[in-house]
Amino acid sequence: MNVHTNITDLIGKTPLLKLKTGIPENGPQAFVKLEFFNPTGSVKDRMAFYIIRQAMEDGRLKRGDTVIDNTSGNTGSSLAMVATGFGLKSILTTPEKTSQEKVDLIRSYGAEVIICPTEAEHDDPQGCYAVARRLAKENGYFDLNQYDSQDNVESHYLTTGPEIWQDTDGRITHFVAGIGTGGTFSGTARYLKEMNPNIKTIAVDPEGSVFADYIKDRRKTKGHTYKVEGIGSDVITGALHPEFVDEVITVSDRESFNRARLIATSEGISAGGSSGSVAVAMERIAKTLTQDDIIVGIFADGGIRYMSKCYNDSWMQENGYLPAEVSK
Ligand SMILES: Cc1ncc(COP(=O)(O)O)c(C=O)c1O
Repeated sequence: MNVHTNITDLIGKTPLLKLKTGIPENGPQAFVKLEFFNPTGSVKDRMAFYIIRQAMEDGRLKRGDTVIDNTSGNTGSSLAMVATGFGLKSILTTPEKTSQEKVDLIRSYGAEVIICPTEAEHDDPQGCYAVARRLAKENGYFDLNQYDSQDNVESHYLTTGPEIWQDTDGRITHFVAGIGTGGTFSGTARYLKEMNPNIKTIAVDPEGSVFADYIKDRRKTKGHTYKVEGIGSDVITGALHPEFVDEVITVSDRESFNRARLIATSEGISAGGSSGSVAVAMERIAKTLTQDDIIVGIFADGGIRYMSKCYNDSWMQENGYLPAEVSK
């Protein structure tokens, strides 16, 4: 029988699918790694599983303990799912703006969710980042702290990188991914460059995030808000290793959301807004390449999480993202 024992056995080994939208016909081959095939529907299952399993194995965690982190959604479901699998309790802090569906999804795995004010800055003691750190300290909870975790980076070095290398028979020439904590990008890029130092690695950052300036010349600038979820940041994270980034491409909310919608209607791939950002970056890179090149991009989550956002015409219109002919 081809069967599995635990839901966590199904994390990773996600498929590569050809991407056609925006890729010139006589240009390079482009593939996207569909991370919504992971059990909770996002790339975050990989790092949540690896960090918790490491901590269980070396005794930092034992059954019945509590794990905590802050989340805007995807990490919450991943951590809650993994914690349940290991007999742990989980607590997630999240800003008020997180959609009710996402909060309900996290709770459905048995986690406790603490809602914090949205407008709080990263270092505000009321904000979800600081509340998670404080509760961990005060109560002796295990702090996942994905933003600075080197196990987060390692999880991608050990899984995402090798999977891409094997599935392209080592022929990948360009790797494209968004940066949220930086874990996916840094771990995967490090592995690929170890296998072939000529592989070009391209990071994708939303307009308003602080990563692009930092990657280009290590400048720490102040960002502004943007709507795409899962990528970009207002602080520099420890999971980002800028030495593995060859180029950074900045993409607007408008381009990202419209591209995600276009890919869903033209190719039947329903992915999140940040996958739209990655696809736009892949198009820009593809224009400079030849038929000998192979680009791989990461689609970090699926469209189903964004039915009330970029897949909702009213939301798109209210935010001024729809072209005039579509918004009639
Ligand atoms: C929705 C979403 N989650 C997570 C990630 C990856 O995040 P990280 O850099 O934290 O590994 C991305 C990056 O593309 C993303 O779009």
